[in-house]
Amino acid sequence: MNKNLNKQMYYNVQTFGCQMNFHDSEKLSAMLQSLGYVETEKKAESDIIIINTCCVRENAELKVYGNLGELKRMKQKNPNLILAICGCMMQQKHVVEKIKKSYPFVDIVFGTHNLHRFPELLNNSYQMEGLLVEVWDQENDIPENLPVERKYSAKAFVNIMYGCNNFCSYCIVPYTRGRERSREPDKIYDEVQKLAQNGTLEITLLGQNVNSYGKTLQKPIDFSDLLKVINDIPGIERIRFMTSHPADFSEKLMDTIATLDKVSPHIHLPVQAGSNAILSKMNRKYSREDYLKKINMLKSKTPNIAISTDIIVGFPGETEKDFDDTLELVRQVEYDSAFTFLYSIRTGTPAATMENQIPDNIKMERFNRLVKLINEIGYKKNMHLVGKVVPVLVEGVSKNNPNRLTGRTDTHKLVNFEGPPSCVGSIVPVRINEAKTFSLLGTSEL
Ligand code: 5AD
Ligand code: SF4
Repeated sequence: MNKNLNKQMYYNVQTFGCQMNFHDSEKLSAMLQSLGYVETEKKAESDIIIINTCCVRENAELKVYGNLGELKRMKQKNPNLILAICGCMMQQKHVVEKIKKSYPFVDIVFGTHNLHRFPELLNNSYQMEGLLVEVWDQENDIPENLPVERKYSAKAFVNIMYGCNNFCSYCIVPYTRGRERSREPDKIYDEVQKLAQNGTLEITLLGQNVNSYGKTLQKPIDFSDLLKVINDIPGIERIRFMTSHPADFSEKLMDTIATLDKVSPHIHLPVQAGSNAILSKMNRKYSREDYLKKINMLKSKTPNIAISTDIIVGFPGETEKDFDDTLELVRQVEYDSAFTFLYSIRTGTPAATMENQIPDNIKMERFNRLVKLINEIGYKKNMHLVGKVVPVLVEGVSKNNPNRLTGRTDTHKLVNFEGPPSCVGSIVPVRINEAKTFSLLGTSEL
């Protein structure tokens, strides 16, 4: 299949967006490796460059178009270079049209529903000139048994479902990832069991709304029951999952988190806004009171639980009072961390045409106030851990300091610490000596 059979062929993958995309890129890597390609970080030495795109916010899209400018120059220097673009952006017709018109030097465009077809598309592309586009509108059956190149073997992502049926009014995902569909539990079980046999300690179960897992299966099973099954797999030490939707987050799941020993005491529960008027316009299907009630119940069942969230600032019609409600909710919940986003208009979603779009300067000013508050609370929460010994899954050597190791607590907090390099890939006790806003510093107790 390679153009030049005498030469080692290299590929480079750039990934934008969420864990789902990151995991899709792991699958693309595995496909290329099984064809004999080797991954490289250097775009200049690559024979194939893949950009796996995200369209949740405009910024990520603009970066992709920016990158394409650079890639055009690389392609002029090396006409044999194959450029492939995939992911959520490609599920939008206007984007594909723009690429055809303004970036015709791209070789392959494919979408989220036909990722597994990449090797064949690559083969076809080698045999033709010009741009090859294959984007499927509809999700078909879930492709099973795809190879995956795991970036970090002690930790692994496992898809349990695809798509979303929620249609939050700001969000493009239901249009790009399609309707909700769940993988069969035995397929998930087999995948996790194989990972465990190969030394994986922590798995993260992925889906846009894992709380509605199983509803579309012929033999329905709910997410709590799936967790119970996975909890019994020997070798797995930590089970994490994302993302949860507050409307579907059940008391049964709270009890499951509280009782299953391997399920991490961490929940990512996006609130998006603290004002009932905005939540309703967002079509989130819960009120501020519903959300806070669930948070209180969670805290009473699992007192050491860490809670993170997503918040959108500047949704159309957001008043100063609405924004205050968000700040007040953040104070009440005391999030350990939060992803904050400036509302970004996504063409085709209901919110894009709502009245009273908020000017950028107001959005930015509110955003800065929110981030300041979140950071203060995050730091305070981290301070509670100083002096304690916590289990840390060691991921490797710290980026900023080669003499330090880096890893995560079971509550998903980042810890940089001094310890023997031999403990990379295992879970070790670490004494926390100092708290920072986004991380902890410690010493291993080995
Ligand atoms: N603008 C800003 N943020 C958005 N998100 C989704 N759509 C938009 C948008 N149009 C955020 C939500 C979601 C996270 C993944 O991205 O907070 O939870
Ligand atoms: Fe988007 Fe809402 Fe679905 Fe999350 S639950 S992917 S925000 S539509």
